[in-house]
Amino acid sequence: MSPRDEPDWDATAYEDDHSFVYEYGADVLELLAPAAGERVLDLGCGTGALTGKIAASGADIVGIDSAAEMIERARANHPELAFRQADARTATFDEPFDAVFSNAALHWIDEQDAAVSTVADALRPGGRFVAELGGDGNVAAIVDAVLAELAERGYDADNPWHFPTVGEYASRLERHGFEVRDATLFDRPTELEGEDGLENWLDVFADGLFAPLSEREREAVVAAVEERLRPAYYGDGVWTADYRRLRFRAVYRPEP
Ligand code: BEZ
Repeated sequence: MSPRDEPDWDATAYEDDHSFVYEYGADVLELLAPAAGERVLDLGCGTGALTGKIAASGADIVGIDSAAEMIERARANHPELAFRQADARTATFDEPFDAVFSNAALHWIDEQDAAVSTVADALRPGGRFVAELGGDGNVAAIVDAVLAELAERGYDADNPWHFPTVGEYASRLERHGFEVRDATLFDRPTELEGEDGLENWLDVFADGLFAPLSEREREAVVAAVEERLRPAYYGDGVWTADYRRLRFRAVYRPEP
């Protein structure tokens, strides 16, 4: 990942409480359909859970992530695989790839054209780009509640993520020489376990939004956000986050 307000990742909290990030990624893997002997790049590989699954298909995989802690954990989880700390906006590779895969990483990148350009440069002509990211409206209820609480306290903040529409992303891919074969935006309400589920999610993923706050103010904002969202998003001991995903498969067809 290549962040604007990317948190200081806590790889343990990410793996222990938010494993749904890569568990849901199994569907994207199906769309990738990696084959033995293919060279595949996992962009924003996190702790390497899906990288390991791609490797199990016999593909030759390289995982990159901008977060040192994620790469360290990925190497510990899969010492046999190749991982590199690299920024998706600027990374370069010696050998072309047959496919680039990315799950839940692209929405962290503020310079989307730079990232798509990296992917295009990494692929051989005819290679595929298969990805899922937060789509238009993703976690809108959570973001709106946090921004409203910050505004009430005199803080001005913006949504730190990029959650594109199908039209926006398909056009961007086409401008970079991709033929878009599939692109879908869909709701995926996502359960966050326990009374602390929302607070834990905010801790792991939304640190940037709280940057200007003291610890006390942060606790007050989180409590107020919970009260705003509780009637519609909490029940039977489970919070539900209003995830929406954009999933696509595109083929790199550069102009001759
Ligand atoms: C997501 O995967 O949709 C997401 C994760 C963290 C923050 C925002 C969105």
